[in-house]
Amino acid sequence: MSVSNYVVVGGSKGIGAQLVRRLASAADAVTVISRTASEVTTSQNVKHIEADITQDEISPDDLPSVISGLAYCPGSISLGPIRRVDAPSMLADYELNVVGAVKCLQAALNAMKAAEASSMVLFSTVAVGQGLPMHASVAAAKGAVEGLTRALAAELAPKIRVNCIAPSLTDTPLAEKLLANEQKRAAMADRHPLKRIGTPDDVASLAEFLLTKDSSWISGQVIGVDGGMSSLRV
Ligand SMILES: NC(=O)c1ccc[n+]([C@@H]2O[C@H](COP(=O)([O-])OP(=O)(O)OC[C@H]3O[C@@H](n4cnc5c(N)ncnc54)[C@H](OP(=O)(O)O)[C@@H]3O)[C@@H](O)[C@H]2O)c1
Repeated sequence: MSVSNYVVVGGSKGIGAQLVRRLASAADAVTVISRTASEVTTSQNVKHIEADITQDEISPDDLPSVISGLAYCPGSISLGPIRRVDAPSMLADYELNVVGAVKCLQAALNAMKAAEASSMVLFSTVAVGQGLPMHASVAAAKGAVEGLTRALAAELAPKIRVNCIAPSLTDTPLAEKLLANEQKRAAMADRHPLKRIGTPDDVASLAEFLLTKDSSWISGQVIGVDGGMSSLRV
């Protein structure tokens, strides 16, 4: 019988937490790596590893010996005009969004290869495919995530599939400041052709699909979940 063990880095909050809720109901086990615990990380089937991905090493020994799917959810929305962008903040964005994902994959790789088939999901942003002001640092880091997705998908095929989701504004702790009051929420919703902002489940449902066998012929893709933002003009 094939096992279904998932690892969700950044599964304590936001999109990752919703993904853990979805996976935990059917999977044998879900391992969550994050700096803090939450109600999701204490639920049945879920093991929590407390770690800061930018500081701590993840040992393969801490992870299941067979991994059917790995999602890397930590990310940043550090917005600002180009004159205020400095090297340390750019490097911090790169470290969290790109280097962290590579470190986690390296720790999980043998266990992913030990699975019948395995899948990795990464996260970009709508601000890579469409230029948005104030997004220079995060768009550069997430652009690297999209390149990483395709490179890994080629290198790890056919055993491990690698895909990336590019959300637009989604109602999570990361987006708190941008959605701080009803006026901001309404203005942000109005910018999207589908006239609302995203819910964590809008994005987690695609992440679950990409992690499971249902998507077994999809690899190397960057898929927008963005209320039409990247491709529609209405
Ligand atoms: N929300 C949006 O509007 C939006 C838009 C475009 C793209 N995205 C992308 O979608 C992904 C998920 O976003 P989200 O909104 O769900 O983010 P979120 O609400 O900030 O949740 C991020 C998760 O990652 C964990 N995390 C953050 N830094 C970490 C670190 N250094 N070490 C370990 N864990 C860490 C957090 O847990 P702890 O705090 O407990 O560590 C949390 O579980 C991100 O890559 C983001 O860039 C989001």
